[in-house]
Amino acid sequence: MAKKASIKDVAALAGVSPTTVSQVINKKNDHFPEETIERVMDAVRQLGYVPNQSAKSLRGGGNPLIGVMVPSLRNPFFSDLMQSMQNHAHNLADLVFISVDDDEIEQGLLKMLERGVNGLVIARMLPNALEVDRYLQKQGIPYVVLDQINDSNISDHVKTDEFTGGQVVARHLVELGHKKIALLHPDVMTTNMLERISGFTAVIDEQADVEIIEIATKLSKHGGLAIANKVAASGATAAFTLNDEMGIGLLRGLKNGGVRVPEDISVIGYDNTDYAEFTVPSLTTVTQAVWRMGQLALDMVLARLKDPALPMQEEILDVRLIQRESTAPAPTK
Ligand code: RIB
Repeated sequence: MAKKASIKDVAALAGVSPTTVSQVINKKNDHFPEETIERVMDAVRQLGYVPNQSAKSLRGGGNPLIGVMVPSLRNPFFSDLMQSMQNHAHNLADLVFISVDDDEIEQGLLKMLERGVNGLVIARMLPNALEVDRYLQKQGIPYVVLDQINDSNISDHVKTDEFTGGQVVARHLVELGHKKIALLHPDVMTTNMLERISGFTAVIDEQADVEIIEIATKLSKHGGLAIANKVAASGATAAFTLNDEMGIGLLRGLKNGGVRVPEDISVIGYDNTDYAEFTVPSLTTVTQAVWRMGQLALDMVLARLKDPALPMQEEILDVRLIQRESTAPAPTK
């Protein structure tokens, strides 16, 4: 078996000191030129270096350590996800959670491996899924992709039926007689959201007289708030926000602008996060079985750890419309 690369090997290849390597890997790298950071990360990749695994050996023969990577710790969808895993992990696994931005995925994975994780649940889109797959295979780390799906179905995964989710939203608004619907989506779209939108547009496209007005903003409450005036000015009588967070921000923004929900504009979110039933008006939304998703993902990665030869594991969970106060028949002129 080939000798495992050490931090010294990485340092030698990159032409820097081991301390520099450690600082770059741990992102204490503000004071390094971009070129040094790239050299170090290139050497890490070339050598397939995995930082020291003392955490793993210290844990001895206890529960497996599973790393969970999410895009945000603040978004209630992911809070529920993490809580469901934490509750379920009892006696089965120890968990470590990390949130990473798009440009931090590689560092995040390295950090997890450094902590000695035995498996991973990746609940965020991987722009370079094949590369990540190769890397994790090389390290012998099983992983489950949750809420996203990589193009080529290369790993175990749990997701919801996003296409149906989009359809359910569109049918609800069409049944209420809306003819001009604002679709609020994030500037950067994830694979699951694209599927959600496909379902939505598939239904709208069947209607001769319904128009979609696309508006891009941030996937957050502030994103929804910031865009409220634009939605009101667009003449839309309904708005579909791709998650509840945006929807909640939009409710606030419309209220600030004196626009009544649902009398003037209906608003429908997505996720059924636990704030949705407490807003005024309460938010109509689509529920994803996020609690179940977390449990299944954990079970899958543990099963894969036990038996690496298992056939591909896949779960696609149902979604459901939750009708509340924020949607109503389109206003008559
Ligand atoms: O609010 C977070 C959103 O991003 C959810 O809709 C979830 O599906 C994720 O992709």
